[in-house]
Amino acid sequence: PDRIAGVIFEPVALEAGVWIPPANFVRGLRKLADTHGWFFIADEVETGLGRTGTMWGIEHFGVAPDLISIGKALGGGLMPLGAVLGDERSMGTHDVIAGTTFGGHPAACVAATVTIDIMQRDRIPERSARLGGKALRRVKEWEDLSIVGETRGLGLAIGVEIVSDKRTKARDNDVAREVFFDCVRGGVIPLYDYEMNVLRIQPPLTIEEPLLDKALDGMETALRKHSR
Ligand SMILES: Cc1ncc(COP(=O)(O)O)c(C=O)c1O
Repeated sequence: PDRIAGVIFEPVALEAGVWIPPANFVRGLRKLADTHGWFFIADEVETGLGRTGTMWGIEHFGVAPDLISIGKALGGGLMPLGAVLGDERSMGTHDVIAGTTFGGHPAACVAATVTIDIMQRDRIPERSARLGGKALRRVKEWEDLSIVGETRGLGLAIGVEIVSDKRTKARDNDVAREVFFDCVRGGVIPLYDYEMNVLRIQPPLTIEEPLLDKALDGMETALRKHSR
């Protein structure tokens, strides 16, 4: 353990298929990091800034990270920008030397401050929790379909597993791909990675409610087409 500098993880593993870890796993990891002096780093590039219904994904687990990486939504969907946040101990007392050609670009930084202001003003994380909760209640009903395994989500991050056997939850990547293309033909683009069996629902946190409902209608039509 003395050769390990830190542990970095996504509080909710979205890219891997929306996996929500048990709170005691995250707390145990925090404890291990404390015991061995490791940095405990939350990669909030995707889960941060309201995606999971709280400002930070890590908030669901009641522990504080030493460092947080953020990006994506930080630039308001307009400017490319990433950042690292940390407490004084973790960031050190010396200036951090991390240079990139366009790092700290003023226009991107303005986009970020305005984005954060608007997120707070319009309570975007709460909106994500409300819309996501409503969408998840509907998505849960899809578990009755023959090709749908587990459905799970936090805020506006929802995953729908496509399976060949509901009992064993055997993954069905081929049908997932077909469902994905039927969704696209119907005008909805779920997040989907080739050779995976999870379709993900991660719309903009500002999506109008009727549009989200319409997207869910489109997904349901595609799922029903492939169900027995
Ligand atoms: C969870 C997570 N971390 C980090 C990254 C990398 O972000 P960037 O492209 O801003 O370096 C991504 C990009 O998809 C991501 O999903």
